[in-house]
Order: sequence, then C-alpha cells, then structure tokens
Amino acid sequence: MPHRFSHMLGIEPLTAEQITFILDQSKPLQEIQRHPLKKLATLRGKSAALAFFEPSTRTRISFATAAARLGADTMNLQAEVSSLRKGESLLDTVRTLDAMKPDCLVMRHSSSGAPHFVAERIGIPVINAGDGTHEHPTQALLDALTIRDRRGTLAGLNVTILGDVLHSRVARSNIHLLGKFGCKFTLSGPAMWLPRELECLAPQGSSIRRVPRMEEALEGADVVLVLRVQQERHHEAALALDEYVLLYQLTPERLRRAQPDALVLHPGPMLRGLEIDPAVADGPQSCVLEQVTNGLAVRMALLLMLMLGTPTDASDVMKGAGHAAD
Ligand code: CP
Repeated sequence: MPHRFSHMLGIEPLTAEQITFILDQSKPLQEIQRHPLKKLATLRGKSAALAFFEPSTRTRISFATAAARLGADTMNLQAEVSSLRKGESLLDTVRTLDAMKPDCLVMRHSSSGAPHFVAERIGIPVINAGDGTHEHPTQALLDALTIRDRRGTLAGLNVTILGDVLHSRVARSNIHLLGKFGCKFTLSGPAMWLPRELECLAPQGSSIRRVPRMEEALEGADVVLVLRVQQERHHEAALALDEYVLLYQLTPERLRRAQPDALVLHPGPMLRGLEIDPAVADGPQSCVLEQVTNGLAVRMALLLMLMLGTPTDASDVMKGAGHAAD
C-alpha cells in the first residue's frame, strides 16, 4: 500500500512498514545510477531549496544530484556567505527561500529540532538532512538499503556501533530504524560517550547493551557501524587521540572478532587512522562507497514522494529512463 509523507523529519515516528515502503521505492532508482543517461524529467519545473547551515559534502551533493537526476532545479543557500552573517534569523532566512517558491526544503542545522521548527512554519515539505545530535533520517535509510541489499533482510541482526554514540545523530536514526526490525545493538566506545540513557532509545522488540571493551563488543556482529569522532561537538575534556586509536580504532585484527562476512559501515567523513584503520576502510567488508551511491536512490525516492504530492511508483518513473530532461 502506498504511503504519503508530509515531511521527512526523523525515523523515530515511522513504522517498519513505512520504512520498507521507502526502501522499496528506492530500489528501482538504484538502477539509474548505473544507466549511461542519468537524467529523468519527472520533476521538471520543480525546485528544491537546499539550506545547509552546517558543513556537508555527501548529503548536500547527494540531494543536489538526486534533484538534478529527476529534472528538478535546486536553490542553494550558502550559509557562510549569506545574510545570516548579518544577523538574519533562521526563520526569516527560510521564509525568504520559501518566498522564491521552491517545492521542498532540505535543511541541515546544528540545533536539534530546527527542521521541525521550520516545518511547522512554512507550507512546503521539509527534509531533515541532519539536526544537531538528534536525527539524520536519510543517512539511516541509505544505511538500511545497503544492509538489506547485502544481507537480504534487516530482521534480527546484531549491530555493533563504535565510538562517539552520544553526539551521533547517525547512531540515533540507525537505532530507531533497525530497532523496528528487531535488531540488537551493542554500543562501544569511551564511557563518557556511552551514557546509560542511550539504552532507552531501543524500540520495542529491540535491545541495547553497552560494552566498553571493543573486542568484546565486536563478537558475533553482523553489522559494524563506525562513527566519526565529532571533535566539533565535544565540550567536555576530550580523550587523547592516541589513546582513542589504541583502545577504539577498528583495525583488521579487531574486525576478525565479528562475523566473517560482517558489513562495515561509516557515514563519512571518515577520519582514517583515528576511528578506522585504512585497511578496514578500503577492505572487502567496507560498504562506505556503496552507502554513498545508495544515498542517491534513497534521496531521489524521497524527493519524488514529497515533491510530486501524489503517490507515485518509482518503477513507473524508471520506465522513462533514457528520456533525459533537457
Ligand atoms: N554522512 C554525512 O552526513 O556526511 P556529510 O556531513 O558529508 O553530509
């Protein structure tokens, strides 16, 4: 049954059925990334406003590319050279963008809840591209698509999440998403980044345990999600980086504790040599670049669902592949 979405602000309120629907809609759109002609005309005449108030490489370019491949234009706010620097508020900034009549707003902001605040005040769909330490829904969806493709299912997997869980919106969205499919989570990293409250995130039918010793946390893992050490969000006395490498870096030796075919995911940007050994980042179990490619399909699916405003089957859209928009 098709689902309709007004916004895409987070994974937490979604059901497993809605998530499966989004992933299923993304499947046919994976094909176009391999097609010699990558441009469709489905969203010709539509515009997506991209407002990133925090740095981004993958998510911003992925949304811009996804929009272009569907034939839509993009309006790009460059926060660092915008009138925000002159003191304009977030709300006045997004209302100004809205007055230029885009058909959706994709936004990233350092404050948790900022996209929700904006969504209540403008009349177009808002997509959360990462808000503070709260959620990064499209990252979790592209991670899930990658895992489901490789494993054939999301159900009941053992997922180990390594590193700075406390500050990670990626970890939160992944726990909300995979937990709805009965995955079990083991969190590992420095104790200050693994507060007990994180256990409350586990959706019904899921569980979270905290295991500070990384070698133990990796035992039997089907999926290993490595997080970036987010130095920009650390207000407490940080762990010495060489100590972090010694105790918590994912090395080939440590990875051998996981299932032999365990998948290694990292949302990027990766800090090679800090949270991940380059031999793992570039190794056969790494899904890092596949995640990036899958991001295009997931974001195309969401743009279609939100910008067309009518239920659309992505398989039908793909029938137009090869008929490029001008
Ligand atoms: N994964 C992710 O959000 O990367 P960017 O910060 O480069 O967008």
